[in-house]
Amino acid sequence: MTDREFELLKKKAMEVAGIEIPDMKRSILELRISKRLREKNLKSVEEWLRYINFDKSEFDKFIDFITVGETYFFRTEYQLDIFAEYIVPELKKHSFVKLWSAGCSTGAEPYTLAIIMLENGVRNFKVVGTDINAFALQQAREGIYSKRAVDKVPSDLLKKYFEEKDNSWVVKPELKRYVEFKQLNLVDTTKMMLMRGFHTIFCRNVIIYFPLDVKKKVIRNFYFALEPGGFLILGHSESLSNITTSFEVLHYKGAVVYRKPEE
Ligand SMILES: C[S@@+](CC[C@H](N)C(=O)[O-])C[C@H]1O[C@@H](n2cnc3c(N)ncnc32)[C@H](O)[C@@H]1O
Repeated sequence: MTDREFELLKKKAMEVAGIEIPDMKRSILELRISKRLREKNLKSVEEWLRYINFDKSEFDKFIDFITVGETYFFRTEYQLDIFAEYIVPELKKHSFVKLWSAGCSTGAEPYTLAIIMLENGVRNFKVVGTDINAFALQQAREGIYSKRAVDKVPSDLLKKYFEEKDNSWVVKPELKRYVEFKQLNLVDTTKMMLMRGFHTIFCRNVIIYFPLDVKKKVIRNFYFALEPGGFLILGHSESLSNITTSFEVLHYKGAVVYRKPEE
């Protein structure tokens, strides 16, 4: 890949997904794309980048190449403990609770949230998991996970919510019914406007890939998607400083939770 082609690729990633591609990703992208060019019998990266404009499945491939989907069940557990201890009791006030896992990758986060809700006696809820990556969402809907992905699930919960099959762990239908998945690009403001009425949004380890102006845009959309008094939880290394002062900042045992003010 020439310098110019790499620049075009970076520009495209920013334009379509708000994602900043670091220079250190160049060689891995080079490998993936050259294989793809051979498979599609295309001559250059430029030609491929034009092609993805017209072909949805090729666009999905492009997104798959540029995104990082690392995730697992019960990730960053101290944040989930705070959620269970302080936020779930507040959510119980609502007749129906809507949670959103934004940038859910292969689904471990939304299923984890559903387990926490059920274990805390809440049944009148749904979790919406969204991601831009169609391949990740396909796996999320199937709900089939490796041993590594479920490593942090306590053994009693593993037995209760998963079925072991051919060395994999399959989410039981009783859990699946609480979670729905949708392809959604967080920088697509028109589509984001349809996301409304949420009581809590988890968006962890996603905005790190966005430059400041994109972070601001995405967080603004989350603000409108939340009900007054709704909660926003970011990744443990992410914060709203420099982004917005619209949220109240709550501190629980060293964890930060953001709250949209009540009207
Ligand atoms: C590292 S994973 C985080 C998964 C999960 N939230 C967690 O913390 O375990 C980041 C996810 O963000 C998604 N993502 C990146 N840019 C996005 C965008 N513009 N719109 C929606 N999802 C995006 C990626 O596809 C990827 O699945």
